[in-house]
Amino acid sequence: PGPFPGIIDIFGIGGGLLEYRASLLAGHGFATLALAYYNFEDLPKNMDNISLEYFEEALCYMLQHPQVKGPGIGLLGISLGADICLSMASFLKNVSATVSINGSGISGNKGINYKHSSIPPLGYDLRRIKVAFSGLMDIVDIRNDLIGGYENSSMIPVEKAQGPILLIVGQDDHNWRSELYAQKVSERLQAHGKEKPQIICYPGTGHYIEPPYFPLCPASLHELVNKHVMWGGEPRAHSKAQVDAWKQILAFFCKHLGGTQKTAFPKL
Ligand SMILES: *[C@@H]1O[C@H](CO)[C@@H](O)[C@H](O)[C@H]1NC(C)=O
Ligand SMILES: *[C@@H]1O[C@H](CO)[C@@H](O)[C@H](O)[C@H]1NC(C)=O
Ligand SMILES: *[C@@H]1O[C@H](CO)[C@@H](O)[C@H](O)[C@H]1NC(C)=O
Repeated sequence: PGPFPGIIDIFGIGGGLLEYRASLLAGHGFATLALAYYNFEDLPKNMDNISLEYFEEALCYMLQHPQVKGPGIGLLGISLGADICLSMASFLKNVSATVSINGSGISGNKGINYKHSSIPPLGYDLRRIKVAFSGLMDIVDIRNDLIGGYENSSMIPVEKAQGPILLIVGQDDHNWRSELYAQKVSERLQAHGKEKPQIICYPGTGHYIEPPYFPLCPASLHELVNKHVMWGGEPRAHSKAQVDAWKQILAFFCKHLGGTQKTAFPKL
């Protein structure tokens, strides 16, 4: 019987609805919402800008749900979803804890808007795509430089977040430079007198960090360039990182959302 601590789970570019991670979290005593935001049912097919009002509605839905224990909600996101979570934590109230898996802390390709505030995209240049011997594209350097470092206006104002932030980083991320960006988020928080975020870096680990025992996805179609791109990661190191990252995520949410670490007994 509930109520349970609540978590909203958000995936990255490509849209649609992916529910497996939220389902797995629910097995650990959380009330979870896997949130689609484009390219699903009646949602827009494409997305030019990210409007946080949509995500605010989801947050309010969770806060008002009788099975969800308030007063705050946890956020979990990967890639673009991680940056949406960091933006929600920065602009919206009642976010108690945020986990970013390979996020960047930056408004990258799309602007992020909330009411009268907007974060301009940093932008990118497709001429910086490299093509590997395999024919796969490497887009790790297409983003423009973060001129001005953590003070660049494309950075998400993470210092406004109320709850703690956990940044999970694959050091072989070929989608973007997760480790460098995590450092910038940390510098920005500290420059504003905030506590250093927890950063967990995994060597040999790529962009696409999944729950434990998912096979490494070395490359797939990327919405932005409409070509197959490599995500990075070496199978053994990446798999070990997935097992550890999952434990860390559960422990972080239990600590900051008041969960109990009780696990439903697996039937498999
Ligand atoms: C949001 O957080 C505040 C402060 O903890 C709390 O008083 C309020 O009830 C929360 N709102 C909801 C809708 O749970
Ligand atoms: C942020 O970086 C972008 C891209 O390199 C640059 O065009 C812009 O001038 C920088 N903004 C600030 C405020 O430094
Ligand atoms: C972060 O990106 C790296 C590099 O692509 C990847 O190996 C790693 O699995 C990703 N981490 C997570 C938690 O998704």
